[in-house]
Formats: sequence, C-alpha cells, structure tokens
Amino acid sequence: MVEKKHTRAQFATRLGVIATTVGSAVGLGNMWRFPYEAGNGGGGAFMLLYILFILLLGIPVICAEFVIGRETRSNVLGAFKQLKTSRFWQIIGYIGILSSLMILSFYSVVAGWTIEYFVQSIVGNISSDVNFHEQFVGFTTGWRALLWTVVFLLINLLVIIRGVRKGLERMSNIMMPLLFIIIIIFCINSLTMPGASQGLDFLFRPDLSKFSWNVVLSALGQAFFSLSIGLGCMLTYASYFNDKTNIVRSAAATAGLDTLVAILAGIMIFPAVFTFGMSPAEGPTLMFEVLPRIFSMMPAGAIWATLFFFMLFLASLSSTISMSEISITFLTEQGRLSRSKACIVCTAIALFFGSLCALSFGPLERLNLFNLFNNISSNVLLPIGGMLISIFVGWILDRGVLRRQLTNNESIRVPMFKLIIFCLKFVAPVCLAIILIMGLIG
Ligand code: PHE
Repeated sequence: MVEKKHTRAQFATRLGVIATTVGSAVGLGNMWRFPYEAGNGGGGAFMLLYILFILLLGIPVICAEFVIGRETRSNVLGAFKQLKTSRFWQIIGYIGILSSLMILSFYSVVAGWTIEYFVQSIVGNISSDVNFHEQFVGFTTGWRALLWTVVFLLINLLVIIRGVRKGLERMSNIMMPLLFIIIIIFCINSLTMPGASQGLDFLFRPDLSKFSWNVVLSALGQAFFSLSIGLGCMLTYASYFNDKTNIVRSAAATAGLDTLVAILAGIMIFPAVFTFGMSPAEGPTLMFEVLPRIFSMMPAGAIWATLFFFMLFLASLSSTISMSEISITFLTEQGRLSRSKACIVCTAIALFFGSLCALSFGPLERLNLFNLFNNISSNVLLPIGGMLISIFVGWILDRGVLRRQLTNNESIRVPMFKLIIFCLKFVAPVCLAIILIMGLIG
C-alpha cells in the first residue's frame, strides 16, 4: 500500500488543487442548471435554501470526501475496501459510479448544446431577427443534438486518455479565471437592463409562500450537483492531493467560488428574463433562450457569444473530466484495465446512454431519459451518497485518521474542527434523511 501511494500522480501546486476542484465544480451546473432550478423554485426562497445547504452540508461533505480520498489514495470503491470496514459502506462506491455515469450521459447532451451555440455564434446566427425559442426547439428535437453529444464525448475521451496532470491541471489554470471575467462583464450588462431590479428582487427576496418540500429537495440536489459531491468525485480528486494540501481551506475555497459563479449566473440571467417578459420557470431551456437574446442586443454580440459558449464548453469539459475520472480510477484499480481501455469503456457507456438522452426532446420524448437521469442523480442518488459519506466519516472512520487528515498531522490549525465534525455526525445525516423522505413523498 505504501508503495502505491508514491506511484500515484499528485497535483504539483496549491493553485493546481483549487483550479481542478473548482474546474470540476464550476460548469453547466452553475450556468445552466442553477438559474432554471432557482426559477422553478421561486427565486429567493430557493436561493436561501441553496446557500444554507452549501454551508451546512456542502462544505462538511467536501471535507469528508477529501479526507477519505487522501487517506486511502484510492478510487471510490477501493477507498472503502481499504479502510477495512463492513462491506456495507462499499455501496457508496457503487452509488458514486452509477451516478457519475448517469450525469456524464445527460450532461454531455447539454455540453453538446453549447457546441451548437458556439457554432451558431460563429456563423452569425445569434442576431436580433432570430426567434430563439424556435431555434432552440428546432435544434434539440432534431438529430444535430445527437451529433454534438457524440462529438463532445469524443473530445472528452481525448482529454481523459492523456491522464491527470498534463491535460487537466494546465487547462483549468488558464480557463477558470477567464470565464469568471467574462461572466462579470455580462452581469454588468444585465444590471443596466430595464428589468434589472425586478430580476434581482426575484433572485434575492425570499417569498415564503414558495417553500415546499419539493423546493427544499431541489435546492439540496442543486447544491450537491453544483459542488460535485455525494458521488466520490471530490474523493477521487483528493486521492491526488499532496500531503500539504489544506483540506478545510480547499473545501471552503471550492464551495465559495462555485457559489459565487452560480449567483453571478443568476444576476446575469434574471434581469434579462424580466426585461424580455419571459417566465423564470421556463425549465431546462431557460439559459439557452435568454443568453442568445442578450448577446444579440450587445454591441459586438457575436464575438461575446462565441467567447462565452467556448468558455462554457471548456468549463463543461473540466466537469466531465472529473466525472469520468471516477469510473476510470475504478476500472484501472479494481478492474485492472489499462487507462486507455478504461477511458474507452467509460466513453462507450456514456455514448450509449448519452445518445438516448440527446434524443429525449425529439424522437424519444416518451422515454425522456434526460429528465430521469437529471432528476434521479441530483435529487436522490447524490443526497443518499452524501448522507452515507457523512455518517461514515462522522461515526465509523477512526477519529485519529480524521484529525490527522484535517490538520495535516497536527501541522496546521483548523478553526472550525468541532463544527465540521458536528455537521458530519448530526446535522448532515439528519437533515439529508428528512429532506429525502419529505421531498420524495411530498
Ligand atoms: N458540478 C458540476 C457542475 O456544476 C457537475 C458535476 C456533477 C461534476 C458531479 C462532477 C460530478 O457543472
């Protein structure tokens, strides 16, 4: 085991660690999923719950995944085998692999939509005389959506096959700051729109009549989805951390930046929604109908649109790389496949289910695997995974191991050590159990 620790790749720098975990967390979840989920959940009410869940459940669960990952330096399943606990806990590994493949499948479809919009921006089809609703519906119900899904998964394959350090660390370092700057520019633009105050009001003022267990569950699912937690993704990345990585600080930085990007996405979208007289509860199509319209009204809009969709494509790619890594490490370490074979197996599965998801808006509408995967993964599997992970780290894992990992062998002070443990032992398991039960029956 000791030998294995040294043969595994590790991130070279602290920036590398943050950039890759943020690279996993920031993606379509923030820009596409957050606005429409917030829109469906009544805006402010959803936002309040979302932030509460990030703080109370999200950060502790990221810490828990980091602890298991760096302690075992293993994949989602191997980690629990290595800790030699009852076999029951290995279920976390299986849930993780299942959800990562489900998410990879439908996520690639939406990533494919960003490729389509990138191409449309280049050829000049994002202009004021286009009906963006018809454009979107026409495209997603046709076969081109399938084509882009396949293209996206093949690009993803090219990157993952090159391994962890080279491809991923380098790319994330440049791309994330750039995306951030572009989003800020778009936010400023949106704040000058006539519907700005209405949009901000919707997003930030909680309307208590909007609270329901369903909204609570979707805010929870969104928090987990956006942070890439509950499926062992952060666990897998932490297996590449070096011994100096400050777990709690990295968890807080990842959660903080991810939440910031989601809020900015909201500020970018909702003023426009109200300016254009659209419904905030439009559903999964929201971003793809609002943004092109914003771009079409901006000076040099085609260039902004091209830039934005390209960055969004890259942000999606850094997220799908992290999802793929879960199954790849599992296949190479448990199944003893070569890395290339593992990448191909993972891509083949995603190609099959991704194609079914891509056709869920047109030919396969009756089956709608897209919605099924989207909802089941975030609102059921990730919270169950997160609940088991917190119970495991709070109650089962040796307290000495937990302490050693969080404090880097007593070499750093951890300000909220007790609070994190309290959240893992009591707050997370109890809240997650209640929300899951009430959200699913209510
Ligand atoms: N967090 C990513 C996003 O917001 C999606 C993701 C989910 C990535 C689960 C990895 C694992 O886009």
